[in-house]
Amino acid sequence: MPRLVVVSNRVAVPDVTGKGTAGGLAVALREAFQGYQGLWFGWSGRVAAQPSPLPRIVDKEDVQYVLLDLTPLDRREYYNGFANRALWPTMHYRVGLSDFSRADYTGYLRVNRTFAVALAKLVLPNDLVWVHDYHLIPLAAELRPLGLANLIGYFHHIPWPAPEVLGTLPGSTDLLRAIMDFNIVGVQTERDADNLRRALIQELSAASQKLNVLGAHGKSTCVKSFPIGIDVSDFQEVAARARPNRIVSQTIVGLGSRKLIIGVDRLDYSKGIRERMEAYERFLVSNPDERGHVTYLQIAPTSRSEVPEYETLSRAVNETLGRINGSLGEPGWVPIQYVTSTYPRSLLAALYRLARVALVTPMREGMNLVAKEYVASQDPLDPGVLILSKFAGAAQQLTGALIVNPNDKFEVAEAIREALRMGHEERVARWRTMIGPLRDRDVSWWAAAFLKELATQ
Ligand code: F6P
Repeated sequence: MPRLVVVSNRVAVPDVTGKGTAGGLAVALREAFQGYQGLWFGWSGRVAAQPSPLPRIVDKEDVQYVLLDLTPLDRREYYNGFANRALWPTMHYRVGLSDFSRADYTGYLRVNRTFAVALAKLVLPNDLVWVHDYHLIPLAAELRPLGLANLIGYFHHIPWPAPEVLGTLPGSTDLLRAIMDFNIVGVQTERDADNLRRALIQELSAASQKLNVLGAHGKSTCVKSFPIGIDVSDFQEVAARARPNRIVSQTIVGLGSRKLIIGVDRLDYSKGIRERMEAYERFLVSNPDERGHVTYLQIAPTSRSEVPEYETLSRAVNETLGRINGSLGEPGWVPIQYVTSTYPRSLLAALYRLARVALVTPMREGMNLVAKEYVASQDPLDPGVLILSKFAGAAQQLTGALIVNPNDKFEVAEAIREALRMGHEERVARWRTMIGPLRDRDVSWWAAAFLKELATQ
């Protein structure tokens, strides 16, 4: 049995309770280790003026967590800079927000080289190496010259845009060249796979060698979609047996007979939070009889707050929120409740189950696991309704949702109205079309399918 070496920008080291961070990526990558021994390598999340070149190692069960600190300059250029100010907006089709700087790009390459040098010392000849996320696209190209001939796979969690969009970013052709050093590249949807294959053909003159495999400059790589899933049974169980804690009980009391609409997203412009609030405002304006009978709870943990575009977004969301609550609220009713804390999975599952409607309306997103978690958390006998953006990868699978264009406030407002009025029979029928495929393609399917494909390259 080969060992598994996972590499990602952030590493979720389990805490003393053995659970650690409960985010989607953390859960998914822990699942990847089922049946494997190995190590998980990445940034510790810490910054040090002179980081040790030797990583800090934490052993927990069968997994060794290997953590490197970054310098303040690394964090600025690699994480806040090229990864989150240039690549992230471009990959999400927000070319206007993309701010390329050659210094940042150099820093991004430098951190990838630093990671490669530290990692190369730890990898054994038969290890399977699985790299995650846009922070580390050049990693295989940095590892190969250090003598690593291992099978190396990459999973791209965010959208892969059309070649015309990616091509606007300086350095993107180099990134495509670097991609060819992976044996396999996994993306979320067929649309992403098609975009990446077209970019390789157009920019590198890559040629098709066999199904899903493209060759260029003496290298070949397989490009395939593997839609990421969630731990469906765990979510169902947690949601069903949730003992009301203080927050859930308060929410129930606060709601009274009102229906709950929920949104849960990192505070990011790709999630369409401000646009969603405006669509809800439109709904309240067009349906005055609904005022006071519905509450929209938006949970939006603050994210990447050192990046200027996120600061601007935070201000814009607060302004929109204040305007809507001020103009439409009443002394006994606040139309939108907005919180920026992070909550544990068990609490989210309980809130999802309470909510009659989930609003998942990203402007563009690789997959979106909240949509899947909402569906998994529902009471099968009385499920709620999912409103889902056509630009989330999840829309390819969750066809029982009300699919909307998040740019069209009137369409989203109409979907809110339809969802709130939807009869029991239709809610159950729609939910049933979604839960089966979610169970078939859960997180263990995702990890096993990718690793099987990597091992057979
Ligand atoms: O969706 C891409 C992603 O990098 C996830 O893998 C990660 O969990 C999330 O964004 C959070 O980003 P950050 O680590 O910048 O807070």
